[in-house]
Amino acid sequence: MSGPNSSFDPVEVAALSEEEVSRAVDAATAAFAAAATLEELKQARIDHAGDRSALALANREIGALPPQARKDAGQRVGRARGQVNQALAARQEVLEAEHEERMLAEETVDVTLPTTRRPRGARHPITLQSELIADIFVAMGWEIAEGPVVEAEWLNFDALNLGPDHPARTMQDTFWTEPADRHVVLRTQTSPVQARTMLTRQPPIYVACPGRVFRTDEYDATHSPMFHQVEGLVVDEGISMAHLKGSLDHLAARLFGEGIDTRFRPSYFPFTEPSAEVDVRCFVCRGVGSDACRTCRGEGWIEWGGCGVVNPRVLTACGVDPERYSGFAFGMGIDRSFMFRHGLEDLRPLFEGDVRFSAAFGTEI
Ligand code: DAH
Repeated sequence: MSGPNSSFDPVEVAALSEEEVSRAVDAATAAFAAAATLEELKQARIDHAGDRSALALANREIGALPPQARKDAGQRVGRARGQVNQALAARQEVLEAEHEERMLAEETVDVTLPTTRRPRGARHPITLQSELIADIFVAMGWEIAEGPVVEAEWLNFDALNLGPDHPARTMQDTFWTEPADRHVVLRTQTSPVQARTMLTRQPPIYVACPGRVFRTDEYDATHSPMFHQVEGLVVDEGISMAHLKGSLDHLAARLFGEGIDTRFRPSYFPFTEPSAEVDVRCFVCRGVGSDACRTCRGEGWIEWGGCGVVNPRVLTACGVDPERYSGFAFGMGIDRSFMFRHGLEDLRPLFEGDVRFSAAFGTEI
């Protein structure tokens, strides 16, 4: 039998001595205090409070001690571990608070800083207005016709019964292209599309043509050298002024609101006979004509365009038999319609290309 191991005195395990234990506590609290970030604190926790820390290893020795010594060492180590955990938790709290504060500061968004985001485009209000008008006609079963903006003088004038000496020809201030003997103009109206349509197809014809037109007008609040018209043309058997009135009333109601209709005032256009100026009932005062109404300026009605029964001379010039067919036509300003629909007093913003103007009409892409 071998005797007791005299070199091992379980009461005197060095790691459990008071000095060692308090050194471990000091080392742990110093390491926690020195940790400047949560990352560093994590490492300090592993080193000083983890499974392989000095105190954890010392703790494992306790079981081998005799009862009294085990009790003393147990209390000592337990207290020490408690202190270490407290120091750790306190430091953790401080670092977390710092971290949060830093994140809040770093992630602050200054909503007043200029943005680098580019505004997206916006569809032009006149494009949308033209499409809306086209849709109204398409819904009635009409077709949309188009013609070139650089047009033959003959189609812009002669075919429409505006002969070379016709006084109305000088009323439309025309842009001529050079050389003059080519007889090519920038179309002054969408009416040449009437002639083009009749020359290329047989009745029944039901077409609408929105498009750009040009006149040598000064550019001001109510004039522009380029503006937009929509032309309408119907050629069929038995067509009368009543069909014209019905179609325009329908367009007015769709564009300006239910119950908004039109009235005719006698007028003259070479391509229609009889001819009329068409007014649309003021959709703000509903035709009452109150002096307070800014939209119609107390008139109750707003000038809208020209119209009439297609002159048989135009039918003949375009190869349509006037004995069999009759028709009606009209033309009105799209920009004008847009202006009074939206209470715009100056048409220039429509031509100056500021996307903020377009976007204001809810037309952002
Ligand atoms: N083209 C005419 C203008 O620009 C408007 C017009 C009047 C068109 C009568 C028509 C019409 O089709 O029948 O002033």
